[in-house]
Amino acid sequence: MKGVIINTFENFLNDTFGVETWDNVLDEAKCEDVFVGTKTYDDKVFFKLFMTSIEMKGLVADEALKLFGRYALPVLMKYGGDLVSHYENSIDVLLELDSIIHVEVKKLMDEARPPKFIIEKIDDKKLHIHYISDRNLPSFVEGLLEGLAYYYNEKVDIKSQKQEDGTYIFNADYSE
Ligand code: HEM
Repeated sequence: MKGVIINTFENFLNDTFGVETWDNVLDEAKCEDVFVGTKTYDDKVFFKLFMTSIEMKGLVADEALKLFGRYALPVLMKYGGDLVSHYENSIDVLLELDSIIHVEVKKLMDEARPPKFIIEKIDDKKLHIHYISDRNLPSFVEGLLEGLAYYYNEKVDIKSQKQEDGTYIFNADYSE
């Protein structure tokens, strides 16, 4: 996992639970790493820190991932800079997330391993979003989708369906 995601998780915890939180999580997890945004860290390190933090705070994993997704979206949009500043709504972003945005991220960041998304446009207001990742974090995706709608002042209704292979398809409805 890229350091930028872990740094964002640090800021999420400190903003939500107070400035000491991250240091306490690092102590509890006996982690001495320093996280640099562009560097890659073993996914196990992130998951250990995530599990430690939810145990310490008494949170449910899926709820915490969803909140983290909402928090992370505007951070990623800022990080994406010129790559994403011309988009005007969620659907336009999502239609190019897999084919352009994450492709550019991989060019710019050595070893970045974003997930795969297969996006199907049902009509002007509806998408089917198929999320495929060995990290399999559907609640994080749900939070990001909610964060994206909030970013553009939209309302969205999101329903997720687990597929037989364990991946998830989200039905996102932006009509309202
Ligand atoms: C808008 C600008 C965006 C930028 C610059 C960006 C960049 C990144 C980066 C750097 C990673 C980490 C990859 C790694 O650790 O190897 C990542 C992961 C991820 N991105 Fe994006 N992203 C953006 C938008 C989005 C949006 C809109 C979504 C979905 C709704 C999304 C879904 C994800 C997910 C779920 C992951 C976690 C990795 C996984 O599930 O395997 N991203 N992204």
